[in-house]
Amino acid sequence: MTAPAALVTGGATRLGRFFVETLAVAGYDIALHYNSSEAPAEEVAVKVRAQGRDCETFQCDFERDDPSALIAEARERFPGLAVLLNSASAYAPAPIAKTDMALLEQQFRVNLFAPFMLIRGFAESVEEGCVVNIIDNKVVRNQYPYAAYLLAKKSLDELTRMAALEFAPKIRVNAIAPGVVLPAETRSSDYLDWRVEGIPAARQGRPEHLGQALLYLLDNPFVCGQTLFVDGGESVNSVGRHSENYPG
Ligand SMILES: NC(=O)c1ccc[n+]([C@@H]2O[C@H](COP(=O)([O-])OP(=O)(O)OC[C@H]3O[C@@H](n4cnc5c(N)ncnc54)[C@H](OP(=O)(O)O)[C@@H]3O)[C@@H](O)[C@H]2O)c1
Repeated sequence: MTAPAALVTGGATRLGRFFVETLAVAGYDIALHYNSSEAPAEEVAVKVRAQGRDCETFQCDFERDDPSALIAEARERFPGLAVLLNSASAYAPAPIAKTDMALLEQQFRVNLFAPFMLIRGFAESVEEGCVVNIIDNKVVRNQYPYAAYLLAKKSLDELTRMAALEFAPKIRVNAIAPGVVLPAETRSSDYLDWRVEGIPAARQGRPEHLGQALLYLLDNPFVCGQTLFVDGGESVNSVGRHSENYPG
């Protein structure tokens, strides 16, 4: 029997790598996409193979290339392709006032256009399957310091519901909106303390919390077109930080 396989974008590093390892443990062979992290991608592939699953790496720069061919390549290598996990992301914080055309285009190409074309190609080429888009819990706010990034992620959130409608029942499309899990290495501990103060669950998330959400979305056939916020309630905290001091 053909083993089920998952195409994971941005699977060589950080959360993408964790998703790859989670899916491999769950029994999926892995088509591992990377852009610049060739050596880490190979390292992850070796680890997955050591776990008894098949793994192949695929390079594509979403900023420059049309990613459509990636689906065909992955499908040829893994006929059991059943999952598309859009995790790759470009994160360039800048307010509108500092966003030029090049930055806007880069953020949209990587964070929206690539998942769009991959979903389209995936839906065309598999009999049935699941797409999971990794978004960001900041989509519920209008944090202008991340203008282009956030607008692209907000669109990916909408695309999740739109694609879910277009491709159901053959393909289920869902999303995960992580909160603070693995902050960028440039983030200060002050930033982290500040974020955690506004999280009702009073903690930073762990990659395992996202892994559990991923397997839930893949395994539950009655969940379709949903964005699952895995953020300790940060996105529903409209009162804001220091809520105990809220002037009621
Ligand atoms: N980390 C968090 O706590 C957090 C919070 C909220 C949302 N998220 C979302 O969760 C996902 C994973 O987070 P992360 O922090 O692990 O992401 P990340 O480190 O920012 O980037 C993930 C991957 O994106 C790939 N990538 C970047 N530019 C690319 C391009 N031009 N073409 C193709 N691939 C490109 C990189 O591949 P290479 O290394 O091969 O170049 C990298 O491995 C992202 O969608 C992110 O927005 C994360």
